[in-house]
Amino acid sequence: MAFIIFLTLAITIFFILIFRIITSSPGSKLPPGKTGWPILGENLSFMVNPAKFISDRMKKYSANIFQTSLAGAKMSIFCGASGNKFIYSNESKFKTWLPPTLVDVLSLTNIDSTSSPWKLFDEQLHKFLRLESMQHYVPIMDTKVREHLEKHWAPFNQVKVLPLSKEFTISLFCNLILKIYDSDQIKELAKPYHTLVKGIISVPLNLPGTPYNHAVKASKLIRDKLVELVRQRKMEVLEKKDHVNVDDVDFLGGLLRASIEGGDFISEMELVGKIVALLFAAFHTTSNTITFLMAHLAEYPDVYEKVLQEQLEIAQSKEKGEILNWKDIQKMKYSWNVVCETMRLKPPALGGFREASTDIHYGGYTVPKGWKVHWSVYSTHIDPVHFSEPERFDPSRFEEKQGRGVYVPFGLGPHMCCGREYARIKVLVFLHNVVTRFRLSKANPNERVIYTPDPVFVDGLRINLCSQKE
Ligand code: HEM
Repeated sequence: MAFIIFLTLAITIFFILIFRIITSSPGSKLPPGKTGWPILGENLSFMVNPAKFISDRMKKYSANIFQTSLAGAKMSIFCGASGNKFIYSNESKFKTWLPPTLVDVLSLTNIDSTSSPWKLFDEQLHKFLRLESMQHYVPIMDTKVREHLEKHWAPFNQVKVLPLSKEFTISLFCNLILKIYDSDQIKELAKPYHTLVKGIISVPLNLPGTPYNHAVKASKLIRDKLVELVRQRKMEVLEKKDHVNVDDVDFLGGLLRASIEGGDFISEMELVGKIVALLFAAFHTTSNTITFLMAHLAEYPDVYEKVLQEQLEIAQSKEKGEILNWKDIQKMKYSWNVVCETMRLKPPALGGFREASTDIHYGGYTVPKGWKVHWSVYSTHIDPVHFSEPERFDPSRFEEKQGRGVYVPFGLGPHMCCGREYARIKVLVFLHNVVTRFRLSKANPNERVIYTPDPVFVDGLRINLCSQKE
């Protein structure tokens, strides 16, 4: 019996070796690195601190490329400005890939961005989020931020920034993307959404009671509610009850109209899966940026004073209580440098994932077809080659233009984040309203930051507020 098992193993290994020899081109060499434990790969080290994970391996293996295993897949990580640029300018060699847990929980049946439903969705999304359209949303965002601060910040001496900014993010998303204004309806979506986000980064064990199982159930609940909404909105579009005023066109309305007019129907389930995924892309990113921005303002009084001066000049150039507009956003130059430095040190997104559609030769190594690929913001943002004393918070770094592929919180190239203008306006409008109303100090100056793998304050960042008038 033992001999038969031994023989079977030997034959299998022999064929695997022959297959590797046949399929690898002469001279092809896999990137250096190791794939860690079976199944787990190197997930744990990555999750505990992705910044350290990347910089340790860049030092140990290669500053250009190394291999690992993450999210159950063999993966090559392209590093440095050259690695980033290689991916951004060779997108035809890659296809879209997302970690399978994300695809499962969000029920994304089809993530091929070249397929017909994705194309229409992407076209409409880019149309909605492009700079010219976003300019119209400055006054709306300003009004929403004022309402939020009046209700959730002004009555208190202390606030927890992260949960509040998440609440604000979902609410704004519901208003602008889905045209949902009813607060109960927003709460009905927000509650399961928090469960979904918690479970999506847990161990993918779909057994009753596990966080992952809760996430799968929460995702279904959200999608069921969104299907109802999509049906109702479709009826409104068909009956031409939907507004067609350019300042009031939400993303969903625009998409349904284009889909009906063009006869290119996206299935309801596919559509709501993509909406949940879109909220996922907007959720952590903008709420984390606001949170770390508030932390930096509280920590660095000199930076706060300079931001305040800039924002007061804008406020004083307007009538009392007058709403912000696009021109005001363009004046927020120093404030934007502060946001950029915040996103450099605490990147709201890890980077991007792809799958190699062909064997890819880079830096003297070959990434075999089918391997997953990751570019990471950490490979440049905290590298002293690009940013001297990289741990130091210094917004003046952004007075000078950064080299291509170096500072990439939103990525670059064809897959660059299409929500970047939405994010920029939202964060700057939030900043304007906070500093012109409040002085900030950290309730616990020692509150720790952990990685999940995104950086987060363990206690949600408690901030003491003091009114500017006092
Ligand atoms: C501070 C805020 C944000 C940051 C730092 C950020 C960052 C990123 C990054 C790094 C990517 C991956 C690019 C790649 O794969 O190469 C991405 C993609 C994407 N983001 Fe954002 N994002 C932010 C906010 C948003 C918002 C508010 C939305 C939507 C309203 C959004 C929608 C998307 C979409 C749809 C993609 C996929 C683009 C594609 O594959 O073509 N993001 N984002």
